[in-house]
Amino acid sequence: MMTKETIVQALEQLQDPFLHKSLKETGGIKEVTVKPEKNHVSVKLAIAKTGTAEQMQLQTAVVKLIKELGAQTVGIRFAEMDAEELKAFEINETKPDNLLSPNSQTVFLAVASGKGGVGKSTVSVNLAVALARLGKKVGIVDADIYGFSVPDMMGITKRPVVRGDKIIPVERLGVKVISMGFFVEDNAPVIWRGPMLGKMLNNFFTEVEWGELDYLVLDLPPGTGDVALDVHAMLPACKEVIVTTPHPTASFVAARAGAMALRTEHEIIGVIENMSYFESKITGEKEYVFGQGGGQKLAEELRTKVLGQIPLQQPDWDKEDFAPSVYEADHQIGKIYNDIAKQIAELTIYAK
Ligand SMILES: Nc1ncnc2c1ncn2[C@@H]1O[C@H](COP(=O)(O)OP(=O)(O)OP(=O)(O)O)[C@@H](O)[C@H]1O
Ligand SMILES: [Mg+2]
Repeated sequence: MMTKETIVQALEQLQDPFLHKSLKETGGIKEVTVKPEKNHVSVKLAIAKTGTAEQMQLQTAVVKLIKELGAQTVGIRFAEMDAEELKAFEINETKPDNLLSPNSQTVFLAVASGKGGVGKSTVSVNLAVALARLGKKVGIVDADIYGFSVPDMMGITKRPVVRGDKIIPVERLGVKVISMGFFVEDNAPVIWRGPMLGKMLNNFFTEVEWGELDYLVLDLPPGTGDVALDVHAMLPACKEVIVTTPHPTASFVAARAGAMALRTEHEIIGVIENMSYFESKITGEKEYVFGQGGGQKLAEELRTKVLGQIPLQQPDWDKEDFAPSVYEADHQIGKIYNDIAKQIAELTIYAK
């Protein structure tokens, strides 16, 4: 029988990941609500530090525990203890050097678009792989916290491991990957909002053991929303690639993403036009299914250039090594990405 008491008792055994004391000792269990008719339990926990890898682990443990007690769905909110509460535990922190520090040698490369579904994630993943194929040390952050897709696109089945207080990214096709998708259970929707999102993103830079990186590719969520803004604020020295489809109105929408980059002093290094045309395998004829000229128009508007035009075509699927959205190096589109990666490498050679 699932009661508030049994849940509290179970939760009390869990530890605050920073204070290394049980939630009973820290008084971290703030609220437990049980809705038996819906088999739903919601809890509010206070811990020493929120928005961390450790919080994600704790979250997983809490969900597991409560589900074992019979709940079907679990809602969790985390609150951070205030300085007064923390004093009792005498916590003092030291921040290690990280990717965001001014002496970091990594080039940040954000992939943005004005609207969804134009192929940002596909472009991000293939750019990252193409840069790695050039021998660069590359990471990718799936910054689309709600709509993460990078792990599936790259065919990642592993999860990152935690070593000490750092998350070790999953390595795939020569690229180090981190995604919100690694930290949610069974494709569950992400329920954080507002400030939590920014914190989570920050953790992707600071709590992840990236090692040395030449490039960190960021797959941004569509549009000019919160997360895109956070990224802009967090990474002042970011380079940006804007993805658009060839339709002139699409480029109009994409220009907004470009305008946002400019306002935050991100440097736009080029436009990638995706889904540019369909080429018949039989006749070799090109059909401009989604119109023509959008990439060029956008590049002119943003005073940059078109780095490449990618036609409509699926990658060849290798059942042995399944990465459904990654084009092979010798695929027609793989070669285009290779060419774009070379241009980017040249454009960013003096970036740092
Ligand atoms: N050149 C292409 N040829 C064929 N299919 C493509 C191409 N580019 C992208 N796609 C497909 O289009 C769909 C959308 O692509 P993708 O998920 O990369 O877009 P997105 O901009 O990241 O979307 P979202 O805004 O939802 O994050 C995917 O199913 C992808 O496989
Ligand atoms: Mg995407």
